[in-house]
Parts: sequence; structure tokens; C-alpha cells
Amino acid sequence: MHKKWWHGKIAYQIYPKSFKDTNHDGIGDIRGIIEKLPYLKLLGIEILWISPVYVSPFVDQGYDIADYEHIDPIFGTDEDFDELIAKAKELGIHIIMDLVVNHCSSEHIWFKKALADKNSEYRDYFYFRKGNEDGTPPDNLRSYFGGSVWEKVKGEDNTYYLHYFAKEQPDLNWYNPKVREEIYAMMNRWLLRGISGFRVDAIMNIEKDLSFPGLEPDSDDGMCASAKMAHKLSSKIGHFLSEMKERTIDRYDAFSVGEAFGVDTSLYGQFIGDKGYFETIFDFKPRELVEKSVLVFKRRPVTFTMFRDATAKSQHSANNTGFLAPVMENHDEPRGISYYIPQMWENEQGAKAFGTYLLLLRGIPFIYQGQELGLKNPVFDSIDEIDDLATHDMYRSCLKYDLDKSLALKLCAHETRDNARVPMPWDDSEYAGFSDVSPWLKTYSFKDTLNVKAQLSDENSTFNYYRKLISLRKDEKYSQCLTYGDFIDDSTEDLTSAYFRVTENMRILVLTNLKDSSYCYRLKDGESNTLSLLLESKKNCVSTFGNEITLEKGCSAVFLIGK
Ligand code: GLC
Ligand code: CA
Repeated sequence: MHKKWWHGKIAYQIYPKSFKDTNHDGIGDIRGIIEKLPYLKLLGIEILWISPVYVSPFVDQGYDIADYEHIDPIFGTDEDFDELIAKAKELGIHIIMDLVVNHCSSEHIWFKKALADKNSEYRDYFYFRKGNEDGTPPDNLRSYFGGSVWEKVKGEDNTYYLHYFAKEQPDLNWYNPKVREEIYAMMNRWLLRGISGFRVDAIMNIEKDLSFPGLEPDSDDGMCASAKMAHKLSSKIGHFLSEMKERTIDRYDAFSVGEAFGVDTSLYGQFIGDKGYFETIFDFKPRELVEKSVLVFKRRPVTFTMFRDATAKSQHSANNTGFLAPVMENHDEPRGISYYIPQMWENEQGAKAFGTYLLLLRGIPFIYQGQELGLKNPVFDSIDEIDDLATHDMYRSCLKYDLDKSLALKLCAHETRDNARVPMPWDDSEYAGFSDVSPWLKTYSFKDTLNVKAQLSDENSTFNYYRKLISLRKDEKYSQCLTYGDFIDDSTEDLTSAYFRVTENMRILVLTNLKDSSYCYRLKDGESNTLSLLLESKKNCVSTFGNEITLEKGCSAVFLIGK
């Protein structure tokens, strides 16, 4: 594998609306990010992904872009953004932008022109199609946010346009070379402006079957999730992705991380590594185990054992190929410690143990804002406290199936994307130091230890533990092994994990125990002679006797085997 500047770095995701408000409007902004750069530096972050800050009507929180060239005034000015790039650079932090090009906003000038004039060249920037003669839309796919992916064009006869997400997010037609040229030129302008790359949004959806055949219904609404179409076409998407890489990323030695759901592990060689379409892709294999249906009451929990096995399979497949980007959570997910590990560990201990397990995997780990504090899902008292449009669709479906309202709320609250979108708690004041006015989304009481101020001053806090983990990864002595070393799984017992990171001359062992009793790991003959403890998530949680390592419940530990 060729060496790249981003190898061995730790990335962090900021959801700007909820990170830090500086102009007293209850909405996070770019000056807030600038203010907190030293905090990120202290943590050890070197790549910063910022969720969309472009001009947007915010139907889907900025993932509906009306103007790719400018910053939305709620976040600040174009100059603020340039200052952010410059200040971050001074601290050795690379900024990457969110690239949302499966669709734009219905407020984008291209779409407005396409609607205004059937003969406009912009018509072919999107997918306009005639409906079927029986009055049904061209196919039966269901949008990610509910309802058909086809929206009728007002004032036109039986004509629809395609939107895999909200109807205000019309899909861009990648089969039109002009659209691709526009996209590449836009990306290059941003790269020239000083950003270091992109997180590429919803990208598996750009490939379409232009005959729009639809799919077998997956629910009694007669529709099928559009995600299933994206998965079905995932092996055909290469022609677009290689072109994009060659025309943009490669020319600037930039970084790209794909939001590529549903990529079979056998395709990793095409998606990552020296010849990959992306520098890396998020490892969503554990997340993909969650039932996709909008009927949340049908979803079964994904246990840590399932998470671990999916991750191990994925990691093994990437060993000789390239890097994956392991994640616990992001702005589309509930908090990981509230979702993937036993409820008894939805606390500081669980946050440290699960964090250790994830941060030492092979790849480029992404930390989502607040994960380093061990944040868990907040409590939502009413559906009206939830803003996320996807959750409202889930809630309506529950009620349609006659679920009791309080049960519906409980189930939807467990899944909602707002779990991760509530404001970042900086201190224990009324609005958590996020803002001095009431924030756009309710803040929850993080008064005890779940805020930055409390954790900075406590050397045993989750935050300070994350710092240690990150320094271990970057420690000159171990970084070669923790960056490039193969991943080898040695897990056997439920709710525990054992894996090695291995290079020719080093072996590092990472043990995690999320059971409710201690876990005994047996070393191979001779290994115990050269065993040394590098890090433990809780003081004195490890004991060794002969070939046996005993790890206390709710803990993780990292060992060096050999010199
Ligand atoms: C991605 C984003 C999500 C957004 C969707 C549509 O999945 O992460 O927040 O709603 O794409 O752009
Ligand atoms: Ca603000």
C-alpha cells in the first residue's frame, strides 16, 4: 500500500448546528467551531469532517443543498469558513466537507429551471419520467424518508421526478455528463480553497436502473426500500466513482470517505485501497444488521456479539486491501453505547470499553461529537421534541399499526437520529454552554459528569481516556503496528472481544469484556513471558496468572506481546 498523509490519523465529525453557538441564536455556527479547535487539538484530532454548512432550506438539516458554493448565513460567512480552514491548518487539523451529490435541494437553481421550462437543459439534470397508464408512479420504490420516491410535477400531465430522500431533495442525474462536470468542478473549487477532502454522502444511490423496474414489495404498502435497489446495483457503480476520483481527489492528493452502505466485503478491493474509488469507506457492517423497515417494532437489537462478528469479517476482508473507517455512531444514528452494548454498560465504563474496542481496530476511526464524553441517548418526553423527519415517518407507521402512543414514542426515541443531534454539552449551565439562549433542539440535563468542563478537570474521565487511546495509537513505538498491522480476531465468548494487531515484529492484543462477570483469556504458550500492559480502561481491571489474563466486567485492556 502506498503511504498517504492521512494514514494513522484520527478523524472527528462535527454536526455544526449542534456544536457551539456564538451569536446567540441557539444554532451552532462556524465561529463556534473555530473557538473549539483547541479542544479538538487537545483530544488529538487531525481530520475534521463537518456536516453540511452550504446554503440550504434545511428540510433535511442541510443535506438539501440549494447552493454548493456558499456558506448558509445561519452558520456564518464564506470568510468565516476560510478562517476556519486556516486556523485548523495552523493546528495540524485537516478540514473535510460533506459532499452531497446524489441529490440537491428543490430550491437549487438547476431544479427551479428544470421545473420552469420542460425544454430547459436542466430538465436532464434530474430524473423526470411519465407515470404508468394506470395512474401509478414509474416504480414502487419507497423513499428513505417514507412514501414513493416519485413526486408528481404540479401542472404537468402524469409527470414525476425522482427523489430517494425527501421530495425537496430531487436526485441528480449522474448519467448526464454535464451534471458530472458541474460536480467535479465544484469539488475542485473547494479543494483549491484549502479543504483536504470530502465525506461523500449517500453515494451508493447514484447508480440507477434507468428502466425503473422497481422491486418486489417488502411491506404491505406495496413498496420496497430504495436502499435495496442501491445494494442491488452496488457492483455497477464503478464507472462514476473512478471518474470522480480521477478528476478530483487524485489531482489534489485529497482524502475521501464514502458513505457506502451495502458494499459486499468481496468488493472492498474496488472501493478502498490503492485502486479504490475512495480513500476509505465507513464500516457500516454492524449497522447493516439493523432491519431497514420503517416498522421499528420489527427491529431486533444488534448485540455487541453481532457487532463484533460483523466487524471482524469486515476487518479481515480489508487487511490486505485498504482502510475502513470504524464508527460507533454519527448524526444519523442513536448513541452507540445506548444501542449496541448491554444496558448495564450504558455508562462511563461502557463508553471507555467500547471506545477502546473501536479505536484500535485497523483503519481511520471517526469519533462523533460527544462520543469522547461517553454521551448516551437523551430522554425524549414527547414526539414534538423530535425534529428528525425520518422519525416522524416511523412514528406515523407505528400508529397506523395501532401501537400505543407511549410505546411508539419509546421505540422511535430509541432509533431517532436526534439522539446524536442534541446540542453538545460544554458545561453544566442552563443551555449546557452550547448557547446562552434556548437551542434549536432541546438540551438535556448533562449536569453531572457528562459535559466537557467536568471531564477536562477529571483525569479519569472518558474524555481523558480517549486522549490516552489516541496517544497510544500515535505513539511512535506502536503507531506502525496500530496503523498498518493486520487485524486478527480471536474472539470466542459472547459479549467479549479479543483481537490482535500484528506486524512482522509486533503483536498488540486488545481485550474487551461487556459481560456481567469477569472474562478469562488464555494466551498461547510462551506469550505470557513477554506480556506487558499498555492501557486499561479502569484502574487495576486486569490480573494475570500463568497463561491466563482475567479482565473485570465492563472493561477493556491493551497488551503488547513480545518486545
Ligand atoms: C446521508 C446523511 C443523512 C441524510 C441523507 C440524505 O445518509 O448522512 O443525514 O439525510 O444522506 O442526504
Ligand atoms: Ca449561531
